[in-house]
Amino acid sequence: MQASDIKKVLIIGSGTMGRHIGLQNALFGCDVVLYDLNEDALKTAVVHIGKIAGGFVKGGYITEEMASAALARISTSSDPAQASEGIDLVSESIPENVELKKKVWGEFSKYLPKDAILTTNTSTLLPSLFAEASGKPERFLAWHFNLPVFIANIVDVMPHAGTDPSVTQLMVDYSKRVGLIPIFIEQEWARYVFNEMFTTLQSSAQRLAVNKVASIEDIDRCWMVILNAPFGPFAIMDNIGIDTNLNILKEAVAADPDVPYGKEVIAFLQAKVDAGELGRKTGKGFYTYPNPAYEQPDFVERVVPKYKK
Ligand SMILES: NC(=O)c1ccc[n+]([C@@H]2O[C@H](COP(=O)([O-])OP(=O)(O)OC[C@H]3O[C@@H](n4cnc5c(N)ncnc54)[C@H](O)[C@@H]3O)[C@@H](O)[C@H]2O)c1
Repeated sequence: MQASDIKKVLIIGSGTMGRHIGLQNALFGCDVVLYDLNEDALKTAVVHIGKIAGGFVKGGYITEEMASAALARISTSSDPAQASEGIDLVSESIPENVELKKKVWGEFSKYLPKDAILTTNTSTLLPSLFAEASGKPERFLAWHFNLPVFIANIVDVMPHAGTDPSVTQLMVDYSKRVGLIPIFIEQEWARYVFNEMFTTLQSSAQRLAVNKVASIEDIDRCWMVILNAPFGPFAIMDNIGIDTNLNILKEAVAADPDVPYGKEVIAFLQAKVDAGELGRKTGKGFYTYPNPAYEQPDFVERVVPKYKK
């Protein structure tokens, strides 16, 4: 099998990530099947994918024709057997919970074609933890994305010790085919490359907020101005989903109870989740959406060149 042979992609879990990953594959010419627990979730996902594509058109990244062609390549199914028909590549983006991932991969192992390549978008779990559950550990690896996938187009390609190296190479090649920059992770590493760096930043930002050292807005402002970035760590957490951040932190604290301020930050994030404030996806998180404060011109007054000759 070569990268050009991948024609039909199954996305398991059509939430925040599955929508972007599905659209990315469709934009680069693949047929995409979105799978989720029920038809309502799939309907919401399709509407949201239309909005993401619309945003890319508005931003000048793609044309309207590219967007409509991609949307026409996306279909949905809440039936695992039907969703698995003729699939060459699977990308799984269900919640970050190892038992759930094992269960869902076990279910799909009954239906997927034997040559399909199986990938997980897990943020912090190692693929070896549930490779066996997929039924084809040698065809299983992590293929891990960043948001928004089309623009933050770094993708980690991370095999486990039992992954067939030709499958890993194929995913490196396929990543390039679908507009992504593959980062080959040479050994299993829970958090890959960018996440390893970002987790440190995010933990520091959370500790500052929990200890009320500065406001959330000011913490983000520091980051935005000094690094000339469009958003800071709390805005990023809103875009990731505060529930996803919480799940990731819970896994980290379970593995190492000495994570500094781990319990306090869990309580801080849990309160947001209990209030239904999950970030952009629910319209409120650390900021309110649409048009969050950090996107307004007066949020940071950047110094601009005034005296250019
Ligand atoms: N959010 C991010 O920025 C980000 C980035 C990289 C990786 N990830 C990882 O991607 C995965 C998904 O994260 P997300 O942010 O998209 O989560 P999400 O909560 O937005 O979406 C999860 C989706 O999975 C569905 N789901 C739940 N149980 C299911 C099941 N049994 N079968 C099929 N679908 C099921 C839900 O209905 C939902 O649509 C996690 O492992 C997360 O760590 C997230």
